[in-house]
Amino acid sequence: MAPRPGFPVTARESQEWVDSMKSTFTVLRGAVGVVVMAGFSLVNATVAAQDFGDTPYVQTPQNVVERMLQVARVGPADYVIDLGSGDGRMVITAAQKYGARGFGVDLDRRLVELANKRAASAGVGDRAAFYERDLYETDLTDASVVTIYLLPEVNLMVRPRLLATLKPGTRVVTHDYDMGEWRPDEQMVMDAPDKPVGRDKKSKVYYWVVPANAAGKWRWELTVAGKPAVFDLSLAQNFQDISGSVRVEGGDWRLENARLQGEEISFMLNDAGSKTRYEFSGHLAGQGIVGSVRVSSASAQRQLEWNAVRTELALPAHALLKKPTLQELQLVQ
Ligand SMILES: C[S@@+](CC[C@H](N)C(=O)[O-])C[C@H]1O[C@@H](n2cnc3c(N)ncnc32)[C@H](O)[C@@H]1O
Repeated sequence: MAPRPGFPVTARESQEWVDSMKSTFTVLRGAVGVVVMAGFSLVNATVAAQDFGDTPYVQTPQNVVERMLQVARVGPADYVIDLGSGDGRMVITAAQKYGARGFGVDLDRRLVELANKRAASAGVGDRAAFYERDLYETDLTDASVVTIYLLPEVNLMVRPRLLATLKPGTRVVTHDYDMGEWRPDEQMVMDAPDKPVGRDKKSKVYYWVVPANAAGKWRWELTVAGKPAVFDLSLAQNFQDISGSVRVEGGDWRLENARLQGEEISFMLNDAGSKTRYEFSGHLAGQGIVGSVRVSSASAQRQLEWNAVRTELALPAHALLKKPTLQELQLVQ
């Protein structure tokens, strides 16, 4: 599988990764093949073709697992789902070290058995379960955190489902590969001395918060210069990026610093006439926003309640993207 341009890894790194795995593992789904145990011991080294959509088994080093869970701020209230769970280390660590619950899915029955055994011996068998299941057929709705270490193409295939089915505010954290045009909210490169692949012993970690749908038109009323004024906000959205325009009683006000993280929205408006700044922040739930606005002028500052209603629902641009086909992803060289 050749690396695709536009991914955060160099072609050399990506090819090295795939080559090293091909030379080490049998990656043919269902074939007689790989027996990989914790510690990365390998029993069958047959090289075989890989089904598109499958990712061969490579462990995330334990220090990277912990960093991923920290970046996603995993805690006791979380439900973690690992897509392609290998020996279960992601969900087991989430349960053991951070008190979370969750499950992992993997196509490889032996890995699923191994993961369940490891969960039992770690004393978290009641909070970390593993199932032999295709990640494309896995119900993700319970997740508050999704962890992923899959090939770049697979991330792109999974991305529309993540955006369409995960609750807004769900955190997604990946190892080594990003999600194409979906800009990460955080990213980092870290030392990974125990990494079984690649020469530089580094890992990349990417983090996103699933955005709510804020696209469309919103309206609210607020007192401006002592008189009630109607605010009309039009928002366009692509992934978590929002932009738009505001009309207040027939005049255009500039929208600045618009930000959406999960269901939390904030932005600033400036009334050039009265030299007043309005800083809005609120929680978006369905067709309403509830929050507050800080109004600052040269002479005074006050905090008011802010309640907006959606007057028109639109689709974010990312929801209109056609789901990539296997062929398209393989053809982009
Ligand atoms: C790179 S490994 C990551 C293992 C583990 N999450 C970790 O980070 O150590 C990818 C895993 O995904 C599994 N896998 C590949 N395609 C899958 C699919 N369609 N559904 C479920 N699991 C899959 C492989 O069997 C492999 O164990």
